[in-house]
Amino acid sequence: MKITVVGAGNVGATTAQRIVDKELANEIVLVDIVEGLPQGKGLDICESTPIEGTDTRIRGTNSYDDTSGSDIVVITAGIARKPGMTREQLQETNAGIVKGVTEAIVAKSPQAIIIVVSNPLDVMTYVAYKVSGFEPRRVIGMAGILDTARYRTFIAMELGVSVEDIQALVLGGHGDSMVPLVRYTTIAGIPITEFLDQATINKLVQRARDGGIEIVNYLKTGSAYYAPSAAAVQMVEAIVKDKKRILPCAAYVQGEYGLRDTYVGVPVKLGRKGVEQILEVPLTAEEKAALTKSADDVKSNIAKLKL
Ligand code: NAI
Ligand code: 2OP
Repeated sequence: MKITVVGAGNVGATTAQRIVDKELANEIVLVDIVEGLPQGKGLDICESTPIEGTDTRIRGTNSYDDTSGSDIVVITAGIARKPGMTREQLQETNAGIVKGVTEAIVAKSPQAIIIVVSNPLDVMTYVAYKVSGFEPRRVIGMAGILDTARYRTFIAMELGVSVEDIQALVLGGHGDSMVPLVRYTTIAGIPITEFLDQATINKLVQRARDGGIEIVNYLKTGSAYYAPSAAAVQMVEAIVKDKKRILPCAAYVQGEYGLRDTYVGVPVKLGRKGVEQILEVPLTAEEKAALTKSADDVKSNIAKLKL
């Protein structure tokens, strides 16, 4: 198993470190355009392996030659949000970056599965899909796991219970119109409505929607990366171990939920082949309308691109 992580910034380097710590690959390549950055971070992570007790080899590079034959490529290259910025404001710059990165990756690793992290997530995943020419099961976006983890965290904090006992699903695009499915939120299998009143649930849903900007406002110079990298690595692990996990990911919809020709967060079965199935869970008219609106927002942003 060879995994490439493109972008040796906050998300990319932390993703690489987590993959090494979990020994999910024999070889990891960390790529960035900044000279010295991936080499330095790669070597630093490499020097942690005797302590962590992992034999995964990692090295940093500025050359795509070193990425040849990768099984999985995680794209984190691009600019991140600063206070006052929306994810959509990153679109033009990051579309150019993701396009160039995808072309370089595809030339060296034509069989890879691509996981996109760069924002705006759903649009950038669509860019990677179009530019790569890969079948949609091999191009997947990371956002739903992060949004769901935030929602689960806030519920656990409110109730004073283990995060492990919160089951939830956040669908839709990675933006203000994301769709946390309250009806499918349970605490150890018991509906959340048995524990919390509607006003409190609404407050937690809104905090999950604003989860990204809450961190940006604290950090001021960039955006979240510990939880995002954990989410990306959960996808990597599902693929590497062929776990068939059911996870919310940005996937290419072809009629599911009545949606077409866009990327949007839906529950998928994730295994060695990538997206092995999109699950269609029953939605109320209101939930379906919210998902459609979120997908429409993604589509209108895709329409602004010149691909
Ligand atoms: P960062 O600024 O720390 O790192 C980005 C790295 O990309 C930099 O090292 C930069 O040199 C590199 N880069 C830029 N152009 C490149 C190119 N053409 N080829 C290779 N490398 C290139 O940013 P951070 O925090 O790591 O975030 C990365 C991206 O991930 C941002 O777009 C951010 O918005 C997004 N993000 C998405 C999340 C999600 O849920 N999908 C969560 C967190 C971040
Ligand atoms: C987040 O939600 C920046 O999209 C990123 O933290």
